[in-house]
Amino acid sequence: MGVDKKILVIPGDGIGQEVTAWGQKVLVTIAENYKHNFVFEEGIMGHVAIEATGNPLPDETLEKARRSDAILFGAIGHAKYDNDPSLKVRPEQGLLKIRKELGLYANLRPIKLFDELLEASSIKPEILRGSDILFFRELTGDVYFGEKNRTENMASDLMIYHRYEVERIARKAYEAARTRRKKLCSVDKANVLEASRLWREVVQGIAKEYPDVETEHMFIDNAAMQLIKDPKRFDVVVTGNLFGDILTDEASQIAGSMGMLASASIGDSVGFYEPIHGSAHDIAGKGIANPLASILSAALMLDISFGLKNESQRVIKAVEATLKQGYRTMDIANKHTDNHLVMGTDAMGAKVLENLN
Ligand code: IPM
Ligand code: MG
Repeated sequence: MGVDKKILVIPGDGIGQEVTAWGQKVLVTIAENYKHNFVFEEGIMGHVAIEATGNPLPDETLEKARRSDAILFGAIGHAKYDNDPSLKVRPEQGLLKIRKELGLYANLRPIKLFDELLEASSIKPEILRGSDILFFRELTGDVYFGEKNRTENMASDLMIYHRYEVERIARKAYEAARTRRKKLCSVDKANVLEASRLWREVVQGIAKEYPDVETEHMFIDNAAMQLIKDPKRFDVVVTGNLFGDILTDEASQIAGSMGMLASASIGDSVGFYEPIHGSAHDIAGKGIANPLASILSAALMLDISFGLKNESQRVIKAVEATLKQGYRTMDIANKHTDNHLVMGTDAMGAKVLENLN
């Protein structure tokens, strides 16, 4: 029996417009092949929404999000804001607001390296081989949402965590560790920050509920170094919003390219799926962006929100097959890649669809 699901698609800004179409096409193909009924709606957010309505997250988009079973999101941001800190209305506010409004407190970022891409990373293959890390980044607290102050000559962002916020993300991370290699690394800056000392204390407490999982605590500076020195030592990593933002961009190099990494943001209700790459204005509109992160985000949706494990695996296998056939977008090509096999967004997406069928 097929399932009925309502999916909201929010392509957003920059290359989000180009790659999200492929995540959606993959979902359409899966629905056809497995007799599911996926109904799609579209919403606007970010710079495109500011242009259209003056608001980076229009109420209409938020309402559609609340009504949906899952959301496929593209990217947010526009060059014009990056160099003008004085602008008060900014695209990113839309993304932060939807995370908060939907209670998406846990951001899962799996760092999985396809063997075919061992050569695409700037890190040596022998260091990378076998790496498989699952990040749990807390997503609705920290300096992102603490009180902000600004005078002419002073500015501050409050780093704030409540016990319950650390508890709920830690539990999710431990539960995941149990299904994997049973190792959890909690990353903080407890040697300096009070918010991190609370973080560590809470994780130490939760650790007692999971004696079968080996717990390690690491300072963020050390973690940033260990991650590229010896990525294989990590299994599940749990950390706060800001540290997680930074560490997962770094970790994307383990997967070869930012263009390969998908993420799932979950909480108490609807799930939100997005590539971790941004809007990439430098290549937007050129048709060369890598659609695989959006396609892999769709795979995460099938698994996590809909419980369709076979379908999700099918998508991952199709991506793997495409890479095995040698096809590459620019970001994952290297000097050994045959030029004929380097392609743009649409050609690459089409190859994955062929492999799905
Ligand atoms: C991410 C992004 C966002 C963040 C930006 C676009 C607000 O970098 O999802 O990692 O900082 O969370
Ligand atoms: Mg980021």
